[in-house]
Amino acid sequence: MDNDKHKLVIIVGSVREGRFGPVVASWIAEQARLHAGFDVDVVDLAEIDIPLTLPAASPKYAGDDYPRPAAMAPLTSALESADAFIVVTPEYNHSYPASLKAAIDWHFTQWTAKPVAFVSYGGAAGGRHAVLHLENVLTELHAVTIRDGLSFPNYYTAWQDGRPLDPQAPGYAKTLFDQLAWWAGALRTARETTPYPA
Ligand SMILES: Cc1cc2nc3c(=O)[nH]c(=O)nc-3n(C[C@H](O)[C@H](O)[C@H](O)COP(=O)(O)O)c2cc1C
Repeated sequence: MDNDKHKLVIIVGSVREGRFGPVVASWIAEQARLHAGFDVDVVDLAEIDIPLTLPAASPKYAGDDYPRPAAMAPLTSALESADAFIVVTPEYNHSYPASLKAAIDWHFTQWTAKPVAFVSYGGAAGGRHAVLHLENVLTELHAVTIRDGLSFPNYYTAWQDGRPLDPQAPGYAKTLFDQLAWWAGALRTARETTPYPA
C-alpha cells in the first residue's frame, strides 16, 4: 500500500436476493478511486459467513482470542486494517439491515477511533433513518461518524446504468471523501501516537 494513502473499506450492507446495494457500492468505489487519498477495498457482506449466534465472550474484551468462524476472517482483517469506512446501506423498516448489525456485533476494536461515512438509499427517506441508527450504534464502538453523507431517495428512479442521475452526486462524493480523508489522517496519527483510552 502507498503509505500516503488511507485504506478505505467500503461495506456492502445488504445481502437480500436481487439487492441494489452492489450498484451503489460499485459507483462509490469508482468515485473513491478517482480521489487521490485512498486505497479502496470493497467488502460484500453477502460473501461472508456471519452467524446470528454470538460467542459468550465480548469482542470488546476478548481481543485476538475472540472465536470467530474461519470464513469471517476476510471481514475481520479488512476491518482491522482499515483507516476509514464507508457503509453502503439501504433502509429496512426505518432502520438498517440485520446483516450489518450482525457484522458490527462480531467486532468492536476494529472500529475504534476510525472514521465512518455513509452512502444510503431507499424509498422517500433515502435511507436516512438507517444512517441515524448506524451513527448511534457506531458511537458505542468509539468510531467517528462523518457529517456529510450521500443519500439517494427513491433510488429506482434516481439511478440509471449504474450511476446516479443527479449531476451533483460526484461533487457530494468528493466532499465526503475530503472529510473522510481528513479524519482518517488525523485519527491514524492519533492512534499511532497515543493508545486510545477506551
Ligand atoms: C424488508 C424491507 C423493508 C423496507 N423498509 C423500507 C423503509 O422503511 N423505508 C424505505 O425507504 N424503504 C424501505 N424498503 C425499500 C428498500 O429500501 C429498497 O427495497 C432497497 O432496494 C433495499 O436495498 P437492497 O436492494 O440493497 O436490499 C424496504 C425493503 C425491504 C426489503
